[in-house]
Amino acid sequence: MSDLSDLEIPGHLCWVEGEMPKVRVQTRWSSAEIYLQGAQVTHFQKNAEPPLLFMSRASQFTPGTPIRGGIPIIFPWFGAREGFPAHGFARSARWSLEETTLLASGAVHLRFRLPPCESWVVELVVTVAASLTLELRVSSTAEQELTFATCLHTYFQISAIDAIEVCGLSGVSYFDQLSHTTLTESADTLKIAAEIDRIYSDSPAALEIVDPGYGRKLRLETQGSNSTVVWNPWLEKSKQLKDFGDDEYLQMVCVESGNLATQQIILPPGGCAVLRLELSSVALN
Ligand code: BG6
Repeated sequence: MSDLSDLEIPGHLCWVEGEMPKVRVQTRWSSAEIYLQGAQVTHFQKNAEPPLLFMSRASQFTPGTPIRGGIPIIFPWFGAREGFPAHGFARSARWSLEETTLLASGAVHLRFRLPPCESWVVELVVTVAASLTLELRVSSTAEQELTFATCLHTYFQISAIDAIEVCGLSGVSYFDQLSHTTLTESADTLKIAAEIDRIYSDSPAALEIVDPGYGRKLRLETQGSNSTVVWNPWLEKSKQLKDFGDDEYLQMVCVESGNLATQQIILPPGGCAVLRLELSSVALN
């Protein structure tokens, strides 16, 4: 890793040091913040718009404890695993920042790396511009096939949970993690009025969250993503989460992009898996 100050870009990228170091990024369209822990983007906001990403006011910011909000990186497993941290170790590990670049367009590009191990090299490339793009690259250095999950667990900030609609999932099959049943999405657009925790399989590459309260729609465009998770804890589950405010479920929804559950990645020796997500927003007419 280079000296951290070498990676600063005057007027565009600076360090905020402390127990939990992070970088602050400024472009002519937007601002962002990214922690070394988890290479976690916790803030992305376009000029003159509410933030796109939700961050819990109760998040702990303690080294080794997952940060509640933004875009946690879930790897190499999704969900619980006995004796191991839920959702894998990538989100609570300290990544290194390897490279920063100011592109001619004015976009800022950052490349993070998870501490290497004998099986893989994992990198995250973040591009901050008018949109926010994350590219997670897992390259195998193993001699045998590897099976793992990847997921960009995006927390979106919304005006009100009962006002938004998630578009693009109609007709898609999902596993309901609350009732443990497999169903097919029958509604044209998904409205959320209770706790939801669903894993959609073979979901489309483009989804939208229409938010009339904020007068915008959020667009998710993915490559290399087969699964979509939709999660909102609602009131009772919120009360059980010690790093999440009781009423915060009203202003967030997780729409997560990746490859998990029955759609984990099986990577041959020497293979590379890339998961790409671009988030943007467009004003509603
Ligand atoms: C979602 C899962 O991805 O993450 C939920 O589908 C889980 O089941 C949620 O509750 C939050 O997980 P965590 O470990 O960050 O509390």
